[in-house]
Amino acid sequence: MAKICLVLTAPSIKENLEIIKRNREYIDIVELRTDLLDRDQYNLVSQFPTLTEVPVILTCRKMEDGGKWDSSEKKRLDSLGQWIDGGFSYVDLEMDLYAPVLEEKALISKTLIIRSFHNFKGVPVNLFEKMQWDGDSQVIVKGAVYPQSSEDLYTLIDTALKLKEKGDCPFILLGMGDFGFPTRILAEKMGSYLTFCSDSAAPSGAPGHCSAEDLNLIYHFRDISENTVINTIIGNPVSQSKSPHIHNEGYINNQIDAVYVPFLTDFPQWYMKMSDLLQINASSVTIPFKSEIIPLTDFPDKAVRQIGASNTIYRNSEGKWLSTNTDTKGLIIPLLKFLKTDSLKGFKVSVIGAGGAARAAVFALKELGADIAVFNRTLSKAEELAGEFDCAAYSLDKSSSDKVKEFSSVIIQTTNAGMPPLEKINPLGFYSFSGDEVVYDIIYKPAETLLMRKAGEAGCRVLGGYTMLQEQAYVQFKLFTGVDYK
Ligand code: ATR
Repeated sequence: MAKICLVLTAPSIKENLEIIKRNREYIDIVELRTDLLDRDQYNLVSQFPTLTEVPVILTCRKMEDGGKWDSSEKKRLDSLGQWIDGGFSYVDLEMDLYAPVLEEKALISKTLIIRSFHNFKGVPVNLFEKMQWDGDSQVIVKGAVYPQSSEDLYTLIDTALKLKEKGDCPFILLGMGDFGFPTRILAEKMGSYLTFCSDSAAPSGAPGHCSAEDLNLIYHFRDISENTVINTIIGNPVSQSKSPHIHNEGYINNQIDAVYVPFLTDFPQWYMKMSDLLQINASSVTIPFKSEIIPLTDFPDKAVRQIGASNTIYRNSEGKWLSTNTDTKGLIIPLLKFLKTDSLKGFKVSVIGAGGAARAAVFALKELGADIAVFNRTLSKAEELAGEFDCAAYSLDKSSSDKVKEFSSVIIQTTNAGMPPLEKINPLGFYSFSGDEVVYDIIYKPAETLLMRKAGEAGCRVLGGYTMLQEQAYVQFKLFTGVDYK
């Protein structure tokens, strides 16, 4: 099973020992980055392995490989030569380093050698060749590369799977940065000997690191095996998404052998190719790919065809991709619960906005029989949407106040006006609430938008967007796993 290695980046031995203590239950190995230690700590390095029961990797990284060692190369080799006698389990030596004396010492002290290379600019096209070691000693080969795109990530994962299949040498292969993040979680699937992580309170500075705590508590890394189903969220950005928390918690509560991983994506075509490599089962799709993803799936359903947006893709038993839209159910379920009704017949509803989210709202409201008026800053877009779904359209300004009043059984706000960086904007600033309106803002961050505050102050009943996020995730969860969320 892939091990979890915590990178120790504090300037003193004492602080690093405290970091180990904090993370002990989450980790298998630590890497002591001696290049980050204060100089007055150097005489304590050899003792380090005796001060902890966790196996230690001895590393001294020079500047060009992303480290902080600023003395001479000779001094670096001499220091490693002195420290290695302390009983380190592993020593990291760069691939291009000729160091027979160190190798000999490692052999005597039964220290495993990791032969590493780093590339902070991208993923070399010849990554597979670079990951071969033809020196004499038994080593673990390590490559740390920095994918800049979905295509780079594809190359990285493809290489790992080929190395895994070849199976002649243990290896560590990981991607730095946000594009590389999935490789931190899926190390076991990729055949990597270990994954690196950092202490949540003392980030290592390595881009894209996951904390030891998150690896265990959110992604349950140690439960990931060959059989674990992979589900994902794709989008740009995805690192702020709450979906990994919701889905992974559901897998734990329901004892489902699956993991849900964020994949920052630039070209969904490359992501889809990668999904075949990793046999990804299902994906949530977020901004900006909700439309672009549709032609890449085999069977878009009626909602997707009408709305022109999909937030959910999943495979059928033959491995074909289905696409659907759970934003509609996510939006409607909390509203119906809130109104204590199961139909919207006789409801006159204002939809604010005419973008993708508004389309999903109009589609869902129409199915429940609501009488709808669309209000948008750009009137032509409101008219286009209203034309498709046979409802009314008005501009979003003072001239439409009476119309908002008329369609005010429920007012649904679907624009991004109200969320950062537009948090100071109230798209209905021109309108005076009577207090009888129900106001539903689908923004979930902040929990209370300016619009919600104004409506609340006027005595309206107000609903925010977090329950929508949860509900659409629960519907997805059922599609992805076959069981109800709990
Ligand atoms: P989404 O898919 O999230 O709905 P979108 O398709 O880009 O995103 O649509 C954004 C919606 O927010 C549009 O209705 C947009 O109005 P315009 O069509 O006039 O651009 C609306 N919107 C964005 N910023 C706004 C603002 N400051 N005030 C009012 N409406 C705004």
